[in-house]
Amino acid sequence: MAELVPVEPFDIVIFGATGDLARRKLVPALFHRWCDGQIPANSRIIAAARDDLSTDDYIKRAEEMVLGDGSSETRAERWSQFVAHLQYVAVDATGDGKGWKELAAALDSNPDKIRLFYLALPPSIYGSVCDAIGQHGLNTTKSRVILEKPIGHDFHSARTVNEAVGKVFPENAIFRIDHYLGKETVQNLLILRFANTLLEPLWNSNGIDHVQITVAESLGAGTRASYYDRAGALRDMVQNHLLQLLCLVAMEPPTSLDADAVRAEKLKVLRALRPIKAETVSKSVVRGQYDAGVSLGQPVEGYADEVGQKTGTETFVAIHGEIDNWRWAGVPFYLRTGKRMQSRRSEIIIQFKPVPHDIIQADAGVLQPNRLVIRLQPDEGVKLMLMTKDPGPGGVRLRYVPLNLSFAETFEQGYPDAYERLLMAVVRGNLGLFMRRDEVETAWRWTDGIIAAWHDGACPLHHYPAGTDGPSQAALMLSRDEREWFDADTA
Ligand code: BG6
Repeated sequence: MAELVPVEPFDIVIFGATGDLARRKLVPALFHRWCDGQIPANSRIIAAARDDLSTDDYIKRAEEMVLGDGSSETRAERWSQFVAHLQYVAVDATGDGKGWKELAAALDSNPDKIRLFYLALPPSIYGSVCDAIGQHGLNTTKSRVILEKPIGHDFHSARTVNEAVGKVFPENAIFRIDHYLGKETVQNLLILRFANTLLEPLWNSNGIDHVQITVAESLGAGTRASYYDRAGALRDMVQNHLLQLLCLVAMEPPTSLDADAVRAEKLKVLRALRPIKAETVSKSVVRGQYDAGVSLGQPVEGYADEVGQKTGTETFVAIHGEIDNWRWAGVPFYLRTGKRMQSRRSEIIIQFKPVPHDIIQADAGVLQPNRLVIRLQPDEGVKLMLMTKDPGPGGVRLRYVPLNLSFAETFEQGYPDAYERLLMAVVRGNLGLFMRRDEVETAWRWTDGIIAAWHDGACPLHHYPAGTDGPSQAALMLSRDEREWFDADTA
């Protein structure tokens, strides 16, 4: 693992501290960074939420989440050191209500200390919480605000949120999280593309036949059903995670890794995405929803039963996207994401073009085009599929074999979770791993276009059994282009 560099001391306020995200991701992420010695001892963690809890109550709840039932002595000892820096404050985050005085008192009064406000809250109240932070004079020049996705539910609401937050914090103090940008393999995409000479000359419509981006989950909507039913797969996953991945694959080389150099190139890709209209939506988009089925060996109920009503929300979406620029003209970008799919698997697949002329005799086997598989999860790694000759006498027999880079085997020590990396990046002020306002709004414009086309055109909701690869119409969409999705065993 790369050398660990401690960050500057900081205070972090987590609004929404009793919620799922704070308990499942944020507190554990901070604890892990603490255990690794990355967080200086004079940092403070202030958990803020409405509930009337004492700090001890909160710590007890968090402990169940972080330590679980059993834990080593060292870990338990680390936990007791960590929680000595944690305080719970009951705050009514949206206004003049209770708790703001106590919150101000809990923060270090040194104006030069880095201060983070993490809004693990619904986006509809981001504006009023920021307003309250400003009103109570808590926004120092060293303050940063962290916004969880989704930023709004469409272009207009995203713009409203951005404007409200922008009244209190300058753009360079706003960190919009897309946790996919914190994943190791996603960060590695830039290095793979721009720190090697090998791929870039082929990385365009001359060398590449098409790109597939799949983010498949085996879980269902679960406890988040009420949020999810209002969002659906397009807003929840495509508008942010899948489009960010697409940008990193498709962008031009930035002049440096400077945050704005990278974000400017990503923005150009988003602007070049061809709008999907009512006339084309039935050919370019497949929507699906899972029914009851068997997931990872267990019978599971369908989505409608999970949310307790019949609903038109999509839990699966597959899209044939096109990027209208010189580099990518005519190269389809197939995007696919779904819940309750066969397995949890996120992958970017670059399918290269076939060789221009086949010199090998027909009975030697099938000549397949090269394929680059970038596995985000599980088993992060990069695999390049190559044609080789099967060793041995008896003439030429072709074999399609992987050149495999498994991260787990190559980088033995493992690496931190996305939230750990992103939180430390905020303390460092590294905006490159976060979405800029114009990126978010441009991504919404494109997805809003699809939602409008769903209403105006023909795009029925297809049902698929839980534990499968989604509706068969998604496979049909590719077979119309004489292509197929690569799955775990075919990629
Ligand atoms: C979140 C979505 O942003 O990403 C969830 O809101 C989804 O619906 C999750 O389950 C997937 O993240 P990961 O890191 O498990 O792939």
